[in-house]
Amino acid sequence: MAYNIAIDGPAGAGKSTIAKLIAKKMNLIYVDTGAMYRAMALYMLRQGVSPEDAATINETCQQADISIAYEEGVQVVYLNGENVNAYLRTEEVGNMASKTSVQPGVRKKLVELQQKLASEKDCIMDGRDIGTCVLPEANVKVYLTASSQVRAKRRYDELTAKGEKCDLEQIRLDIEERDYRDMNREHSPLRQAKDAVLVDSSAMTIEEVADAIIGLCKK
Ligand code: DC
Repeated sequence: MAYNIAIDGPAGAGKSTIAKLIAKKMNLIYVDTGAMYRAMALYMLRQGVSPEDAATINETCQQADISIAYEEGVQVVYLNGENVNAYLRTEEVGNMASKTSVQPGVRKKLVELQQKLASEKDCIMDGRDIGTCVLPEANVKVYLTASSQVRAKRRYDELTAKGEKCDLEQIRLDIEERDYRDMNREHSPLRQAKDAVLVDSSAMTIEEVADAIIGLCKK
């Protein structure tokens, strides 16, 4: 049986940064499920599908072949054979992903891909429904969160460092809107699994959070 760590939590809680670091320290593969939902959203944007058009989203997602490869330790997402990593981390794609990921057709397809990956490889997987739906039998489950103020400031610093102009207050509002959608959708909403450990990273460094989680794994 493969060894699996599940990390869930809201946008900007630091899941991917922490998961990458733990993957390195524990020699695991890091599976970023948000990137899969983002690739699906990118496909919908390119096809001009409206985020409100549920029927078309559930139909169109069948034409999107999403797969994952690891190139020099980095997860690469392929959308119908094209490496789309460079297009996934924009606010536009993130907001679209939050809307299109509510659709059961999209979820079913990507959850199957995630379960297959986790059954084959020792991994740390992050997302919104990993501990609750994708890997209910994961060896360790963590619910990683931080205040929306802190999460907005982290995103702001990240975008500013890339030279992108942005507004802190707008980012906070977007984050809160996305949280609401992710937590209140009908299918697989974001919530803490009963057996997940809550970690609030608002006042913790990246190293402290990673060490706390590695400590849980050693228990
Ligand atoms: O973690 P992220 O910001 O890259 O995720 C983008 C969107 O994808 C997020 O708003 C909700 C959705 N998502 C999901 O529904 N389930 C997952 N396991 C991961 C992401």
